Amino acid sequence: MQIYLDSADHREIERWTREGIVDGVTTNPSILFKDGVFDLEDGARALARLLGDRPLSVEVTSDDPARMLAQGRSLARLAPNVVVKIPVTNAQGESCLGVIHSLSREGIAVNTTAILSFNQAILAAKAGAAYVSIFAGRIADEGNDPSIVIRNVRNWLTEWEYTAKIIVGSIRAVIDIQAAALAGAHIITIPPQFLPKMVDHKYTRETVSQFNRDAARALEQMSEARAAAAASGSSQR
Ligand code: E4P
Repeated sequence: MQIYLDSADHREIERWTREGIVDGVTTNPSILFKDGVFDLEDGARALARLLGDRPLSVEVTSDDPARMLAQGRSLARLAPNVVVKIPVTNAQGESCLGVIHSLSREGIAVNTTAILSFNQAILAAKAGAAYVSIFAGRIADEGNDPSIVIRNVRNWLTEWEYTAKIIVGSIRAVIDIQAAALAGAHIITIPPQFLPKMVDHKYTRETVSQFNRDAARALEQMSEARAAAAASGSSQR
């Protein structure tokens, strides 16, 4: 399973890349703005450079399918690792599957976003999307269980041999991450503020403190034993 950061914050991306856990990054216009990007294309280029060959998802900003197609093509030209994010429908509920299909046929990697149901996910995969982004938090907001959607989509993709990968986004709490991992997500895109909570545990700290105390005592005892052995050696001579 891969981990992406749901972030445009360079410091966080660098920090967690150094820790060896970042396989890619997803953004949307709100994330870019929140993290201080004021020009979509410049911001995307800088992030793509930072990531090297890891994928960076960048979302189209138009609600009109024809414009999405044109913008998708131009976003894809920004850098070879840009993945174009297209919503499964626009705000009016019109299908964007045609846009996903056209871009995919042109060899552009598409991340279908705002997926809230099994049906949307399988249609996006059929249209050729490389990634289907299931929004766990928003599914749960409506009283549904995201784990069931994730598991069913994963089984369907496997059964019918689709290569689309599930990205689980819209993470609201650490528990969502483990639930998505166990339900069969290929990738989870995590807002960086959850990572310190995932890695830390108060009992781990206590355990390490105990090891440190024991190690200090053992080293002291070793040094005392060495001194005693040296002293007994010199008295025998
Ligand atoms: C990821 O691709 C999505 O843009 C993001 O996770 C959406 O999260 P939200 O539901 O918190 O807006």
